[in-house]
Amino acid sequence: MKILLTGKNGQVGHALVPRLSALGTLCAVGTAECDFQDETALRTLVRRERPDVIVNPAAYTAVDRAESEPAMAHAINARAPEILAQEAHTLGALLIHFSTDYVFDGTKTTAYTEDDVPNPQSVYGASKWAGEQAVQAHCARHLILRTAWVFSAHGQNFAKTMLRLGAERDHLSVVADQFGTPTSAELLADVVAKVIAQWDTARWSDASNAAFPFGVYHATATGVTHWQAYAKQVISQARAHGAAMRVQADAIHAIDTAAYPTPARRPANSQLDTHKLQSTFAITLPHWEAGVNDVVKQLNTSEYIP
Ligand SMILES: NC(=O)c1ccc[n+]([C@@H]2O[C@H](COP(=O)([O-])OP(=O)(O)OC[C@H]3O[C@@H](n4cnc5c(N)ncnc54)[C@H](OP(=O)(O)O)[C@@H]3O)[C@@H](O)[C@H]2O)c1
Repeated sequence: MKILLTGKNGQVGHALVPRLSALGTLCAVGTAECDFQDETALRTLVRRERPDVIVNPAAYTAVDRAESEPAMAHAINARAPEILAQEAHTLGALLIHFSTDYVFDGTKTTAYTEDDVPNPQSVYGASKWAGEQAVQAHCARHLILRTAWVFSAHGQNFAKTMLRLGAERDHLSVVADQFGTPTSAELLADVVAKVIAQWDTARWSDASNAAFPFGVYHATATGVTHWQAYAKQVISQARAHGAAMRVQADAIHAIDTAAYPTPARRPANSQLDTHKLQSTFAITLPHWEAGVNDVVKQLNTSEYIP
């Protein structure tokens, strides 16, 4: 099996490299090898590699900056997935694409299911929703994995920001009225590897793939929290590992979103219902705290934390 992976230097892409290499022949690219703003280069890449599977975690993920760069966000998050979908369709390849909780407006009081109608409130969210629609329109053999609050030992994320600030300051103020589920890049990579393995097995007995459950799935860890409680978990774990944190978990104070204005509006409720993914692919998703604890431990042993 030949697999083309985009975004190899990102959080999810980096976690995917070893798992996808174990499944087949991997061609992994970042911006340096193929800039998504160059449509010809993107089509040429797919036509040259002729993959059986395309995994696309590459994205314009600077949520606030996207408000002032809508054209670039659209090119990378909507137009490039459209091109990948067209090329995947021509090859008969499976396209696995990532999307986001930010396609929703966050006004629902319970977890969002795949049947809820998106209503993005930011340029980033709108560009990702356009990307989903393009993938659905051009490639029937798609899996769209909507995830949220991604973190990893590799790359930039909220958990690493808290560790940096926690080493510098005695007090922190963190938003406590946005709810969601921190999800590790490693977990997402495990999910993708399991789903590809199932698709690979299924295609030998059903070459048309008629019975395979393509579609949109919510893919996060389980449980729900808010940013302040998430920050407390990160700092408590770092302290438990003996890291030199100045801040105590009790000195991480709750503030409202209104007290921390940002260019992009974020959903107050980002919780995604993952039952469809778990039951369709027989996957058991772990609680978010397990992933956070693992990553803080990894960072502690790697001496990222002082
Ligand atoms: N991070 C989150 O909290 C979060 C939440 C919900 C959904 N998601 C979705 O999950 C997926 C993975 O997110 P992530 O956290 O792994 O993202 P990330 O760490 O920001 O990585 C994104 C990667 O996209 C690549 N990229 C950006 N611009 C590109 C361009 N012009 N051409 C080619 N590649 C380009 C970058 O490659 P280079 O490094 O080589 O430039 C980067 O490594 C994305 O689809 C994102 O929308 C993320």
